[in-house]
Amino acid sequence: MIKVKYIRKFIIHYYLKYKRELPWREENNCLQKPYNTLVSEIMLQQTRVDKVKTFYKKFIKKWPNITKLSNADISEVLTSWSGLGYYKRAINLHSTAKIIVDKYNSAVPSDKKTLKTFPGIGEYTSSAIVSFAYGKHAIIIDTNIRRFIIRIFGLKDESNEKKIFNYAKLLFPQKETSSFAQGIMDFASNICTKIKPRCDACKLEKYCDYTGSKKSFIKKKKIIKSKRYCYSYFCFTKKHRVLLIKRPLSGMLAGLYEVPTSIWCIDDWPDNRYENIKLPIQNLKMVPLRIIKYQFSHFTLYTRVNIIELSEKSFKNHIWIDKKKTTKFPISSLTNKIIDYSFSR
Ligand code: ADE
Repeated sequence: MIKVKYIRKFIIHYYLKYKRELPWREENNCLQKPYNTLVSEIMLQQTRVDKVKTFYKKFIKKWPNITKLSNADISEVLTSWSGLGYYKRAINLHSTAKIIVDKYNSAVPSDKKTLKTFPGIGEYTSSAIVSFAYGKHAIIIDTNIRRFIIRIFGLKDESNEKKIFNYAKLLFPQKETSSFAQGIMDFASNICTKIKPRCDACKLEKYCDYTGSKKSFIKKKKIIKSKRYCYSYFCFTKKHRVLLIKRPLSGMLAGLYEVPTSIWCIDDWPDNRYENIKLPIQNLKMVPLRIIKYQFSHFTLYTRVNIIELSEKSFKNHIWIDKKKTTKFPISSLTNKIIDYSFSR
């Protein structure tokens, strides 16, 4: 118990003294705004803090409250999400905003049970909202807190969620859980880092059961990523406009615009490079360009880009956008890469 008490006191003190200035945090350790917490925590799912900061600021400037967000067009929300990845989060956030406005009088609920009924809100995000925005007690476990718990208690990396939860329950204080959880997040980003933790500078060393850093640094798990291949067709007009089509509102890169592509095949190029393309591309002259490699979280995509010059009248049911106006449309980083490369070739 001495260990637990010491860690709680240390981490809360650490947070008050060294907390990172993040745009969703309030000054003087006040509670965060519920809507801002909802937005930031959804953005922070699967994305690093540094990257989220800029996206978050722009997003809040554009939609400062939940009513404005609920009235926004999904395509606009996806545009502001362009480059942040995991686009399903934007669709979920938008749907959640609509539900909260329609059924909860525009107030973000303060209980986990209700929050978890909303799209895209699970155990972690609901706990973060009730704690950071409403000051309630909750056990909050993200990847950094998980790593901290594993090290402090000398657990195995592969420990199951139940075990981690039980240790977290033992460790989390009843009061000031928000400062405690966010204190661990900050401590984990400065000292108890994933790679090369700074154990020599760590004031918790005497209570920490982690031995890894003395023997060897955590070896990066070798994740074998599968490869996918497709053909993409960069179609443009003489007026420097590019043809884009919209992906369905479900599945990967949902609702985003992209250059037309063939189907994505695992481990080899598609046999039929025109399957899936609803344009009469076969009959057109095209220039094959280089292969663009793009890393998704679970696989690497190789796409062989082909350039086609079309007259604007050639097709209907797709949009033509000016090369200078691509930021006004929801476009993934991959599509941006293809567009940039193709125009600058
Ligand atoms: N990661 C997830 N949520 C976070 C937060 N509120 N502050 C810092 N890092 C986080």
